Amino acid sequence: MKPRIFYTKPSITELEVEYATDAARNGWGERCYEYIARFEEAFKAHLGVEYAIATSSCTGALHIGMAALGVGPGDEVILADTNWIATAAPVVHLGAKPVFVDVLPDTWCIDPELAERAITPRTKAIVAVHLYGNLCDMDRLQAIGKKHNIPVIEDAAEAIGSVYRGQRAGSMGRFGSFSFHGSKTMTTGEGGMFVTNDATLYETALTLSNHGRVRGQTKQFWPDVVGFKYKMSNIQAAMGCAQIERIDDLVGRKREILQYYRAQLGQLPGVRMNPEPVGTVNGAWMPTVVFDAGTGVTREKLQQAFKAENVDARVFFNPLSSLPMFEDQTQNRHAWEIPGRAINLPSYNDMTLTEQDRVAEILVWSLKGA
Ligand SMILES: Cc1ncc(COP(=O)(O)O)c(C=O)c1O
Repeated sequence: MKPRIFYTKPSITELEVEYATDAARNGWGERCYEYIARFEEAFKAHLGVEYAIATSSCTGALHIGMAALGVGPGDEVILADTNWIATAAPVVHLGAKPVFVDVLPDTWCIDPELAERAITPRTKAIVAVHLYGNLCDMDRLQAIGKKHNIPVIEDAAEAIGSVYRGQRAGSMGRFGSFSFHGSKTMTTGEGGMFVTNDATLYETALTLSNHGRVRGQTKQFWPDVVGFKYKMSNIQAAMGCAQIERIDDLVGRKREILQYYRAQLGQLPGVRMNPEPVGTVNGAWMPTVVFDAGTGVTREKLQQAFKAENVDARVFFNPLSSLPMFEDQTQNRHAWEIPGRAINLPSYNDMTLTEQDRVAEILVWSLKGA
C-alpha cells in the first residue's frame, strides 16, 4: 500500500512550540491575557480592520456577531445552500430562520441575485461565505445590502489570504469571522476571530463575548446582560501569534499547491477548479475539482479511486437544505447537483510534488475511465 496522503495537516514549527511553551509556563496571573491581546493586534494589522475578538471557534464568533446585530426569533438570515452547518447553526440557536439560496456555478458562492430575491421584511442579514477560499461577489452583495438596509456578514472561515479588489476577505462586511480549526490554513487547534470596523457593534460583541460584562463595569462578577463564553485561551493565542507571523508562507504554500493542481488538471475537458477572477487573490484553502455532468465522473467513483490509492477524499459540502433538520430546497440546482460530481483535494504546507502528482493521476484516470 502506498503511503497515505492526508487531505490536510497543520504546519507547526519551533516558533509555535516556543510561544505555546512560554504561554504554558508563564502566561498566568497578570499575564494570562498577554498572548490573546497580542494575537488580536497582529490579526487586526494583517486584515486591516479596527477591532478583533479572539474566540474559541468561528461558530462562536458568528453566534456573538449575529446576536450583537440583534438577530432573534422570527428573523430570517439569507445564506448559500452550499456550506458547512456552522454558519447556519447560530441562526437557529438565536431563534431565527436560515434561508438557503443557490450558489453560482463557477465560484460555488452565494448567487447575489437570488439573495436579493429572498429578502423579506423579516430579513436581518445576508451572509457571504467565501467557500474554499473562493470569493463572493462582494460589490454586488454590498450594493444589495445597502439598497435594502440589511447588513452583509462575511464568514471568512475558509478564506484567510483571499483578497477582493485590495481588501482582505473578512474585512468588508459589517463583521467577519475566521476559523483556526486544525484543518485550516492557519490554526490554533480550535479557535476563531470576530472582526469589525463598527465601533458600536464591537462594544456589543465584546460585552456579549465576556458573559455580558460591560467594559468599564466596576462591580466584580456583574454581567449586565446574558452573554456567551466563547473565549480563546492564552495558550491557543500563543500558537496564533506564531501562525500569523508565518501567514505569508502559510498562504503562499496553499496558493502554490492550487497552482500546481491547476497546471495538471485545469485544462482537462469538463473540469472546473477554484476560480481566481481578475482583481482577486484566492487564499486557496481547499483545492477543489468539479466535473461537468457530461464527463460521467461521480463523487462515488472518485471516492473509490482515492480509497484504492490511499488518498483522503473529502466530499464537496452537501446542500444544507438536504439535511434532516431543514426543508429541502431542490430548486437550488447548483447546490444540489455539484456535490455529486466534485471532490476536495489534499493540500498541506509540506505536500510534495510527487504527492500532488499521485492525486492528479487519480483524477486523470477517473476522467478517462468514466
Ligand atoms: C464556512 C465555515 N464557517 C464556519 C466554520 C466553523 O468554524 P469552527 O469549526 O472554527 O467553528 C467552518 C468550519 O469549517 C466553515 O467552513
